[in-house]
Amino acid sequence: MKSINLKVNGTAHPVQVADDELLLDALRQRVGVTSAREGCGVGACGACTVLADGKSVSSCLANAARYDDAELTTADGLPTDDVVVTAFVESNAMQCGYCIPGFVMMTKELLAENPNPSDTEIAEHLEGNICRCGTYPELIKAVRLAASRSRA
Ligand code: FES
Ligand code: FES
Repeated sequence: MKSINLKVNGTAHPVQVADDELLLDALRQRVGVTSAREGCGVGACGACTVLADGKSVSSCLANAARYDDAELTTADGLPTDDVVVTAFVESNAMQCGYCIPGFVMMTKELLAENPNPSDTEIAEHLEGNICRCGTYPELIKAVRLAASRSRA
């Protein structure tokens, strides 16, 4: 076991993790994060996406100990009036909702890097995220809305 500090949404969580513990498991089981979810477990669906120092990470593939002291952001740490969260809600960009936290975190990353993405750039940035409910048209609409509001 290793002692590490998981900094999640601005709060420090001193935890002990196994040498091979995945970041997804540490976040869910030791910190109580619910928005990072296991879909495929092999880095192919995006449901487990969190941001580490602003960059998206598939937490189902990431070793927890490597994120000692990183600034981790998860979707459940975003305020309810967050521009991306509200755009997703208003665009009805969800059905079952399982995939949505991953899409939200990818959108946060995209807009931080590119405040005015084209539809092609949106699609390219989100191409690693899978929505089994097929809510893609609403998801794209939500990202466009969040981008326009962020620029306003
Ligand atoms: S659960 Fe991590 S990418 Fe699918
Ligand atoms: S809303 Fe159900 S998997 Fe995306």
